[in-house]
Amino acid sequence: MTTPMRVAVLGAGSVGREVVRALLERGDDLRAADGSAIVLVGVAVRDVARAAAAGIPEALLTDAPAHLVADPDTDVIVELMGGDEPAYTFIAAALGAGKPVVTANKHVIAHHGAELEAIARRVGTPLRFEAAVGGGIPVLGPIAGDLAANRLEAVRGIVNGTTNVILTAMRRDARPYADVLADAQVAGYAEADPAGDVEGHDAANKLVILVRLAFGQWIEPASIRLAPSAAGGGPGLPGITGVTLPDIEAAGEQGFAIKLVATASRTNRGIAAAVMPSAVSLESALGRTDGVLNRIEVEGSPIGSVAFSGPGAGGAETSSAVLADLIAIARQGGSTWAGLGPASGPDAAVAPQHEDVFVGPSGARYPVIR
Ligand SMILES: NC(=O)c1ccc[n+]([C@@H]2O[C@H](COP(=O)([O-])OP(=O)(O)OC[C@H]3O[C@@H](n4cnc5c(N)ncnc54)[C@H](OP(=O)(O)O)[C@@H]3O)[C@@H](O)[C@H]2O)c1
Repeated sequence: MTTPMRVAVLGAGSVGREVVRALLERGDDLRAADGSAIVLVGVAVRDVARAAAAGIPEALLTDAPAHLVADPDTDVIVELMGGDEPAYTFIAAALGAGKPVVTANKHVIAHHGAELEAIARRVGTPLRFEAAVGGGIPVLGPIAGDLAANRLEAVRGIVNGTTNVILTAMRRDARPYADVLADAQVAGYAEADPAGDVEGHDAANKLVILVRLAFGQWIEPASIRLAPSAAGGGPGLPGITGVTLPDIEAAGEQGFAIKLVATASRTNRGIAAAVMPSAVSLESALGRTDGVLNRIEVEGSPIGSVAFSGPGAGGAETSSAVLADLIAIARQGGSTWAGLGPASGPDAAVAPQHEDVFVGPSGARYPVIR
């Protein structure tokens, strides 16, 4: 391709502003030797004046993302607004019009992935979403491409930085959940409404995406188990909201850190998937994955076990994955699922069975990962 690829970015928040900055300041460096030039032609935000004050050239700004999607002078749409709607409608419309889409939106891919994959395949237009899992960590592309010769059996990981920051601080500083959450909100590691992170929904969305690439199947996010069993056998509180300091301390005495771990595996009952606070051996690499770091481990044959770790969030870090997807499209690359066949589903996931559990003083039962 010799004509420049004209890119519109929808959203200039934590991630979008870093993508916009990179395209404006080092767009020439982002051009691959065998790809077209990448030119930023529009940026959509809600508050144009605020974005202009933050340094985005006024001539690029609009508060009408739909216009950028429909504009015949845009070739590729980068969706970085987040949330369900209108993001889903814009992504679907762009793909339907034959415009490649790059997004970091794990919610939209997890909840509408099957429909979007169908549109992308029917039109023959790439949909890329490397940034949706693990922020800047390259994990989806390697699973779909470099590991394509394997039959993958299991995937697990720490995929939510906010909860890992909170659990790490509770363990290191011996402070209760509510105090640490309040501090994380002030420091910008947790949102004002933290439910999506602390209840495990964000990690579940990422697990849906990992499962699609590892096992060729879309699963329903709502079918993923989010709560450990509580005292008495009933379900406990979702995500990390029921993790107590005494449980963390008792786990530590036995050589475990409590971590929010997303797991999925093939079973003869279907795909078993859960996002649960788990007792992870402090001697393992997963158990030592602290703070904002993410780590994803994949098992299959013939590779055995392979792991990906690094910065799972952050605007600049995540822009690395978004920009790489743009570079891939400028080189005529396909979708994130690369050469994998169409996925089945969406189907319901089944709950995993845990034989090895750590029972905390609260009575909560944490699956053990050694
Ligand atoms: N932050 C991370 O570390 C990270 C990591 C991986 C993936 N992601 C994903 O990346 C996406 C973006 O996250 P973020 O943290 O950058 O979000 P953010 O800081 O909240 O920024 C969102 C941006 O989208 C704009 N926007 C939202 N709704 C809009 C609408 N209806 N019309 C026009 N503009 C709209 C906002 O404009 P105004 O500012 O004018 O309101 C803002 O510029 C999300 O899907 C998120 O899950 C984020």
